[in-house]
Amino acid sequence: MHYKMNTTTRYVLLVLFVLIGLHSILSFTHEDYGRATSLSNIAHKISGSYSDLGSPEPIPDDYFASSPHSNATSRRANATILMLARNSDVDSAVRSVRELEDRFNRNFQYPWVFLNEEPFSDDFKTRISNIVSGPVSFGLVPPDHWYQPDWIDEERATAGRNKMVQDNIIYGGSKSYRNMCRFNSGFFYRHQLLQQYKWYWRVEPDVHFHCNIDFDPFVYMEENDKVYGFTITMYEYHATIPTLWDTVKEFMQDYPEYLDDNNAINYMSDDGGQSYNLCHFWSNFEIASMDFWRGEAYSKFFDFLDSKGGFYYERWGDAPVHSIAVALFARKDQIQFFDEIGYEHNPYTHCPRGEGAWQRGRCSCNPSKSFDYDGYSCMRQWDRIQ
Ligand SMILES: *[C@@H]1O[C@H](CO)[C@@H](O)[C@H](O)[C@H]1NC(C)=O
Ligand SMILES: *[C@@H]1O[C@H](CO)[C@@H](O)[C@H](O)[C@H]1NC(C)=O
Repeated sequence: MHYKMNTTTRYVLLVLFVLIGLHSILSFTHEDYGRATSLSNIAHKISGSYSDLGSPEPIPDDYFASSPHSNATSRRANATILMLARNSDVDSAVRSVRELEDRFNRNFQYPWVFLNEEPFSDDFKTRISNIVSGPVSFGLVPPDHWYQPDWIDEERATAGRNKMVQDNIIYGGSKSYRNMCRFNSGFFYRHQLLQQYKWYWRVEPDVHFHCNIDFDPFVYMEENDKVYGFTITMYEYHATIPTLWDTVKEFMQDYPEYLDDNNAINYMSDDGGQSYNLCHFWSNFEIASMDFWRGEAYSKFFDFLDSKGGFYYERWGDAPVHSIAVALFARKDQIQFFDEIGYEHNPYTHCPRGEGAWQRGRCSCNPSKSFDYDGYSCMRQWDRIQ
C-alpha cells in the first residue's frame, strides 16, 4: 500500500524525535533528570503515589556486626521477641520464626516469648523449640486480660458489631479480634513472662523478613533513647474508630501534662490536633519499649480509653491506640522508622529505600514496589515532620 505522510504528520514526528533525543541526552548527562523522569517514578505518580520522599536517616555503621572492628554482637539489650499465636497458627508461626532467625536472630540469640489465650499444644512447642536459637517460653494469657469485661453493655456491643457487619467492615463482627486489639493495646506488657524485659519485637505468624538484619535494633533503640520503632505506616478505617479522636482530645484536655513539647502530633493531624488524619504505625511489626506502655502517661491513657468501651462498642485497634500515644507522649525523635528492615505482612511490604540499604541487606523484596510509595501509605506525613 502506498503511504504518503502529509505535512502535519511529518512535523509531529519531527518534534517527537527531537524530544526523545533531548530526553536521552539529558538522561545520560544529568543523573537527577534521569531519576526524576524514570519510568518507575512516572508509574508511581500514575498509580496515585509519590516519589518525593526524603532519604531516611540510616543506622550508623558501627551498629552493623559486619563492619570492621564492630562490637555489635557483644552489646546486648534487655529484650525479647514476642509472638501472640494460636495452636492452629503453628505452620505460619514456624515460617515467621524461621525467617527472623535466619535474617537476624541466629547472630544475636534473643529469647522468644509466645503467648496464647489457650494453652500451647505440644506440637506447637516442639516445632518452635526446634528452630529458635535463643531461650523460648510459652505463656497463657490470663482470662481477665483477654475477654470482654463484665461492665461492657453487651446489647450496645452487639448492636455495634451488627452495624459493622452490615457496613462490610473487616473483622466488624468479630469478638475475638476485639479481645486481641484490647490485649495488644493494654495488657501484653503486663504478662508475667514479659516483666523481666524492657524491649520487645512484635512478630506475627505469616510475616516475612526480606533483608539481613545485621545490626541489633534493640541496642540501637536503647543507645539512642528511642521508644517506638516501625516499618509501615498507613491510614486507619475511620468506621472502626468513629469516636476515638474525640476521646483522645478529651484526654489531652484533662491531662495536658503528659503531652511532650516535641511530640509528633503533626504526623497524625493536619490541623494542629482538631481532627485525626487516620495515620498510624502498622503495629503487627513493633520494636518498642514496654516501659513506655507501663509508664504513667500510657497507663492513664489506656484506662481512659478502655473506660469508654470503644474497644467493644466500636473496633478500636491497637495500632491507632499505640500510635496516638507514642505521637503524643514521646518526643518525635524517639520514634524510629526502621527503613533497613524489609518487612511484609500480607498485602503490604516495606522494602528499604535509603541509599545502599537494599544492597547491604541483600534484600529479596522489590524496591520499586515498597508500600512507602503507595497512595495509602502515611510515609509522606511521616516525612513531612522530619
Ligand atoms: C562498643 O563500642 C563502643 C564504641 O566503639 C563503646 O562505646 C562500647 O563501650 C563498646 N561496648 C562493648 C560492650 O564493648
Ligand atoms: C529489664 O527490664 C525490666 C523492665 O524495665 C526490669 O525490671 C529488669 O530489671 C531489667 N533487667 C535487667 C537485667 O536490666
